[in-house]
Parts: sequence; C-alpha cells; structure tokens
Amino acid sequence: MDAMTLLHERNSMGKLMGPAPERQQLDALYRAALRAPDHKELMPWRFIEFSGDGIDRLGDLFAEAEYQANPHIDEAKLDAIRNKPKRAPMIIAVIAKVVPDQPKVPRIEQLLSAGCAAHGILLAAHAQGLGAMWRTGSFAFDKVVRQGLGLCENDEIVAFIYLGQPGGRLKRLPEHDPADFVERWD
Ligand SMILES: Cc1cc2nc3c(=O)[nH]c(=O)nc-3n(C[C@H](O)[C@H](O)[C@H](O)COP(=O)(O)O)c2cc1C
Repeated sequence: MDAMTLLHERNSMGKLMGPAPERQQLDALYRAALRAPDHKELMPWRFIEFSGDGIDRLGDLFAEAEYQANPHIDEAKLDAIRNKPKRAPMIIAVIAKVVPDQPKVPRIEQLLSAGCAAHGILLAAHAQGLGAMWRTGSFAFDKVVRQGLGLCENDEIVAFIYLGQPGGRLKRLPEHDPADFVERWD
C-alpha cells in the first residue's frame, strides 16, 4: 500500500478476531509510534501491551473501577464491563508520560505527541492488514484504572488501541471535501 493511499484510507475496525498481531508486526507498530513528532525529544510515551491473561486482568481492572464507583451494580452489568477488553485479542494502552517543568513543551504538546504515537500505531496496523480501533471510554480517565496501570500524576491514558485480524468488512469511507475545513489567507 502506498503512503498516500494509507493516509487517505485508514479505517477503524471494531470487529476483531484472533490471532493477535505477530511480534514482527508489533515491532513495526511501535516503530511507527516512535516516529511521532516530539518537541525537544522528550519521548513522552509509554505503551502497555495486553494479550492472553493480560486481557482478563485489564477486564478485572475495569470491573473493579466500576464496582468502586458503583458498589450496587448488578453482577451481569459488571460481567459485561469485565468482558469489554475481550473484544480484541490484543490491546495496546498508549500513555502520555508527561514530563513536568518543560516551559518550551507544555503539557498539551506532550499529549498531542502521544496522540500522534497512537495514530502511528493505527496507520501501521492498517498498512499491515491488521484491524485496529482507538477507544478510550470512561475507564481511560478513571483513578482506579490509572493506579492499576501505574500512571504517575502527570500521565494520561490517551488510547486503548484494540488490535487483531479484521473480523468484518471495512465501512465505506465518508467523503469529505477539504475545502469545507480550510480557510485560506492568500
Ligand atoms: C481520543 C479518541 C477516543 C476515542 N474513543 C472511542 C471510544 O471509546 N469508542 C468508540 O466507539 N470510538 C472511539 N473513538 C473513535 C474511533 O476510534 C474511530 O475513529 C471512529 O469510530 C471513526 O472511525 P474511523 O477511524 O474509521 O474514521 C475515539 C477516537 C479518538 C481520537
């Protein structure tokens, strides 16, 4: 796939099946992530890769977070939450490890850099024929989940990227006209 086709046609895939990406494919994903624009080369990123039992442990963490927020929740709802990460054979959490006291690289720039790293993963997944979907949901902002994943106070979970083999057809791409979004100062 040529680069412009990839950029124009990347598409999310919510329906994902096993097997999880191979190690070589993952290496290519991370290399793409590490090419994110990065002011002052702070490398404000951290990735946690979940598969196998790790997916179950992430589900348990989501369920624990929900239970602590809502102790009266019924067991069926809690199970549904516990099963959320099982929608894919692999999940990569992209974490912005924000370096404090960087007057030239404020927090927003570091968060954006981590977002670009996440986008790099999506692009590299698509280029390799993998399916991927960037999700956050309330658990990305939950203190129990943050703690369970070892985030420091300054850090943010910017993405849970669900990854696997495409399990459905890619949706039709929307046709947007760039002119609707561009203002020109000639
Ligand atoms: C920061 C961020 C968080 C997102 N979180 C979710 C989410 O939790 N659930 C969801 O269904 N889509 C979420 N999305 C949107 C999907 O990843 C996807 O981009 C959207 O469905 C459009 O599909 P496309 O990527 O093929 O254009 C999120 C996107 C971004 C950038």
